Amino acid sequence: MRVLSISGIFLVATTQIVAGNNLNLAEERAAAVQQAFQLSWDAYYEHAFPHDQLKPVSQGADDSYGGWGATALDALDTAILMNNQQVVDQILDYVPTINFRSSSQGTVSLFETTIRYLGGLLSAYDLLNGPFSHLINDTSRATTLLTQADELAQSLKIAFNSETGMPYNGIDVGNQAIQGDPTNSLATIGTLVLEWTRLSDLTGNPEYGNLSQKAAPYLFNPQPSWASPWPGLVPNNLNISTGEFISDAINWDGGSDSYYEYLIKAYIYSPSQFSSYRDTWEAAVNSTIANLLQNTTTSSGQNLAYISTWDNGTFSSSMGHLVSFIGGNFLLGGSVLQRQDIIDYGILLTDGWYAAYSSSATKIGPGALSWNATAAADAGQSDQYDQLGFYYTAPQYVLRPETLESYYYAYRITGDQKYRDWSWEAFVGINSTCWTGSGYAEINNVDDTNQGGGFNDLQDSFLLAEVWKYAYLIQTDDAVWQVGKNGTNQFVYNTEAHPIKVKGN
Ligand SMILES: *[C@@H]1O[C@H](CO)[C@@H](O)[C@H](O)[C@H]1NC(C)=O
Ligand SMILES: *[C@@H]1O[C@H](CO)[C@@H](O)[C@H](O)[C@H]1NC(C)=O
Ligand SMILES: *[C@@H]1O[C@H](CO)[C@@H](O)[C@H](O)[C@H]1NC(C)=O
Ligand SMILES: *[C@@H]1O[C@H](CO)[C@@H](O)[C@H](O)[C@H]1NC(C)=O
Ligand SMILES: *[C@@H]1O[C@H](CO)[C@@H](O)[C@H](O)[C@H]1NC(C)=O
Ligand SMILES: *[C@@H]1O[C@H](CO)[C@@H](O)[C@H](O)[C@H]1NC(C)=O
Ligand SMILES: *[C@@H]1O[C@H](CO)[C@@H](O)[C@H](O)[C@H]1NC(C)=O
Ligand SMILES: *[C@@H]1O[C@H](CO)[C@@H](O)[C@H](O)[C@H]1NC(C)=O
Ligand SMILES: *[C@@H]1O[C@H](CO)[C@@H](O)[C@H](O)[C@H]1NC(C)=O
Repeated sequence: MRVLSISGIFLVATTQIVAGNNLNLAEERAAAVQQAFQLSWDAYYEHAFPHDQLKPVSQGADDSYGGWGATALDALDTAILMNNQQVVDQILDYVPTINFRSSSQGTVSLFETTIRYLGGLLSAYDLLNGPFSHLINDTSRATTLLTQADELAQSLKIAFNSETGMPYNGIDVGNQAIQGDPTNSLATIGTLVLEWTRLSDLTGNPEYGNLSQKAAPYLFNPQPSWASPWPGLVPNNLNISTGEFISDAINWDGGSDSYYEYLIKAYIYSPSQFSSYRDTWEAAVNSTIANLLQNTTTSSGQNLAYISTWDNGTFSSSMGHLVSFIGGNFLLGGSVLQRQDIIDYGILLTDGWYAAYSSSATKIGPGALSWNATAAADAGQSDQYDQLGFYYTAPQYVLRPETLESYYYAYRITGDQKYRDWSWEAFVGINSTCWTGSGYAEINNVDDTNQGGGFNDLQDSFLLAEVWKYAYLIQTDDAVWQVGKNGTNQFVYNTEAHPIKVKGN
């Protein structure tokens, strides 16, 4: 789940194609992604480190995630996977200096802190203790990552201090106080289990996993009864003190998305512990296919499939970019459960977002699209709708990873070269359109090749954690840290693309 923001400024962009002669195509592409990662890291390190994120246009710094260096922690495992010793060392030197017991910000988000920092620390620990141990000489370099993850969880765990055990999302870590709403969203409650359970398994302290699992019965047995019209699908907002649902919006968009994502990922992490999560995921996916999946047709007769939303009896034929991770999640779960039909729907949904990416002038997909003919006519977009089968309802691109993530799963699970080509096409578009001269920025309009119609002054940390990682890993060979072809996985990627070693491996 992420929050959207827009504004605009500009600078001159330069593009150049890397010419490689003796590398094969995939190696050449992987090297180009490594270069983009280095450019975004260098700009951050020079202008914004150890703040959370780079403002690439003004060359300033942003603190939105506690001010503990979100980009550094988000980038660490990407640098590890790329064998980038210099960047790994820069970040490992920094990690022991972070004080998670106080923050420059009054309120931090339990969810954001978990997926970026805890996920980043645990993933780096698992990789440096495992297949990337050659990147450290001294095992204390890795041990510190776990010590700091433990510190962070100690600092955050007050969030679970409620009648139901359901967490609050806003925490003042310095004063150890809950901030804000007595409600919480489905995604912010349901996207903790992987990281907190892994932390318990690595430290031997069962408290963390217990805390993150305690609210699950409220999500799996929804109350009141109107909350869940279809098995497995539930609304996006809850009352923390009662554990009851208090909205009737059902979708896979921000606020809900990674709850569904983690149901199957928790099962992959530990099948014996999380079989009820698997069952809920399968029910949710069955219900999604039966009720939310809709089709539209292009002018050339191609069928495209997308996921609609539902709110108290009303469907809306629209889909945000955030939801485009769903193809990859279906592919992953379908492969693990050996459900070829779910894999096939995952492919169909991934292909739907390729249609969106390939339709734009920059080859980057829009922030949201709709396949509602009436709404297209009302918006004066019937021409685009008639040709493409959809029209853009939000033209911006905010460096989001979800479509590249689905290409990644599609490639690993089907082995079809076209997904590598699609990922590369999107990478080239992002690399050239979003480049500011000093880091990469969000853009206002994917249909404008001239600096994307204007930059928004932010290089989100997930550009380094996710976009470059998925763009890189799809071009590299099978390995233990890659998603498995046949439903067997030694690592499972959290929602910020941090690979966590599955239990018992
Ligand atoms: C990516 O962008 C950088 C910065 O403009 C440029 O140096 C590099 O050549 C680009 N890579 C590709 C493959 O276009
Ligand atoms: C490990 O130590 C050797 C010898 O001191 C040094 O050459 C090498 O760069 C070090 N490697 C790492 C990953 O720190
Ligand atoms: C964790 O949960 C298990 C099972 O409910 C319980 O037996 C154990 O006491 C709990 N441990 C802690 C530290 O809360
Ligand atoms: C949550 O439930 C409590 C107890 O019934 C109630 O007092 C409170 O108003 C509810 N809050 C919201 C936001 O629904
Ligand atoms: C989902 O649908 C499949 C195929 O119809 C069925 O075999 C399976 O039992 C269903 N799973 C759940 C949890 O409803
Ligand atoms: C959409 O198309 C897919 C693939 O052809 C098909 O399986 C599905 O039943 C269709 N769904 C609807 C609602 O028409
Ligand atoms: C759903 O809509 C009906 C009217 O169509 C309204 O009476 C009801 O309160 C709504 N439900 C919720 C939970 O908002
Ligand atoms: C389609 O758009 C019309 C006009 O905005 C709206 O009334 C209708 O509810 C929409 N239907 C769907 C399924 O999105
Ligand atoms: C998948 O492949 C792995 C490694 O090649 C093998 O060990 C495993 O048995 C296979 N699993 C299934 C379900 O076919």
